[in-house]
Amino acid sequence: MKKVYLVGGGPGDPELITVKGMKLIQSADVIIYDRLVSRKLLAYAKPGAELIYVGKQAGKHTLTQEEINQLLIKKAEEGKLVVRLKGGDPFVFGRGGEEALALRKHGIAVEVVPGVSSAIAVPALAGIPVTHRGIASSVTLVTGHLAEKKEERLDYASLKAETVVILMGVKNLPKIIEEFRKTRPPTTPVAIIEKGTLEEQRVITGTLADIIERAQEAKLKPPAITVIGEVVKLREDIA
Ligand SMILES: C[S@@+](CC[C@H](N)C(=O)[O-])C[C@H]1O[C@@H](n2cnc3c(N)ncnc32)[C@H](O)[C@@H]1O
Repeated sequence: MKKVYLVGGGPGDPELITVKGMKLIQSADVIIYDRLVSRKLLAYAKPGAELIYVGKQAGKHTLTQEEINQLLIKKAEEGKLVVRLKGGDPFVFGRGGEEALALRKHGIAVEVVPGVSSAIAVPALAGIPVTHRGIASSVTLVTGHLAEKKEERLDYASLKAETVVILMGVKNLPKIIEEFRKTRPPTTPVAIIEKGTLEEQRVITGTLADIIERAQEAKLKPPAITVIGEVVKLREDIA
């Protein structure tokens, strides 16, 4: 049966891919990869493997999601070993579920190879455990993307978890932080990690009261992860 492997490439540092993911990169005939996938991983592809970039940047799409789905179907139908390589974990804000459904609809088998998600690993490598006994026993992962779309807005203020991790939140940071200020004390610690797990990593820390100004001063750029909650303080001792 024709098959596509949906492989998580990890959070940035190429060494943070799984053994299974690496073996598939080495044996793939076609690798269809995203923007946040480390280019160093592609160096492990076998000679002659077809490497196809389909990355998306806020507002700029190389291919639409529908075109990516069609490309996956086409390559699988050619009988090739197809690896769809995605940043982090394919099923954490990665549209991996949509791709899996499109493939299954065409009778193509899908095997998911989970990846180390930036949602957990980026805070971890900045010295922030997203849960910690006695401090945070719950964590919520949210997208910052839905801050402006009226029809499907996320009610950030109503989130109850002790730790909140925000992905894709750079553009809408001021709006999102304002929402959290409605229900959480202004002293709540916040950390923003830009280009986490990579050499260029930067960490901006503050509180709900001052993080917007600090991010502006630092000229924060994507990709970045924002962590809100008391666990951020642990960084002082762990990082
Ligand atoms: C489309 S989502 C994909 C998430 C991915 N599937 C995962 O599990 O990590 C992209 C967002 O992940 C976050 N991200 C991914 N890699 C990152 C990194 N190295 N440093 C900081 N944030 C990162 C950013 O919030 C970015 O906007």
